[in-house]
Amino acid sequence: VRRFVIIGQTALASGDFSLDDLASSSGRLDALLRCVRAALLVSHGLRREVLVYLILRGGPSAPRVVRIDGRTAKFLRPDERSLATLLKKTLAVGAGPELAEVRPGLSLCEGDLDKVLEDLGDGSCYVLDERGHDVRGQELPEDAVFFVGDHLGFDEATLTCLQDYRRLSVGPVSLHSDDVVTLLTNELDRRAG
Ligand SMILES: C[S@@+](CC[C@H](N)C(=O)[O-])C[C@H]1O[C@@H](n2cnc3c(N)ncnc32)[C@H](O)[C@@H]1O
Repeated sequence: VRRFVIIGQTALASGDFSLDDLASSSGRLDALLRCVRAALLVSHGLRREVLVYLILRGGPSAPRVVRIDGRTAKFLRPDERSLATLLKKTLAVGAGPELAEVRPGLSLCEGDLDKVLEDLGDGSCYVLDERGHDVRGQELPEDAVFFVGDHLGFDEATLTCLQDYRRLSVGPVSLHSDDVVTLLTNELDRRAG
């Protein structure tokens, strides 16, 4: 299973955002939701072999982790408003210390990167960074884990935590997170044939 970890430094960890003004009321959760769409949704379907973790570090309920599992997820739709509605409902419930399924395929817990690393178990980890090794020259296993920053990039503490992992680039230009997920996914699709 391919896994993406998207780290939202300001993304609200509660459902207290407005669907009509998502970008400014949610601490840029909209950017994370576009990553979810890029990682999990294809034309008329869902990628069953992909899992996405969102680390939400914004607001008084933070930090929290949402895990979206393509193998069991239901009701995932490509438009941002539907995804935001689904997240809002997921985040409305109380979170415990362990990931627990709140809606089909969507699990929630209190915690930060350490919780995600614990849940990931084994798997080759890569940090997406435009200054990294070109993805085109790299062999990537099926169960690779990709860490992607948000509009602010990665904070120092996160970089320290991920310092042992290989840096991967999808090109020389600093792109929006969802575009990075799309390009990487496309590269892997092409390899799979
Ligand atoms: C909008 S960028 C972050 C910009 C932020 N101001 C910075 O300087 O780090 C969001 C994330 O996408 C990833 N990213 C952006 N461009 C990339 C590229 N060309 N190759 C690989 N990852 C990239 C990185 O993980 C980055 O943290």
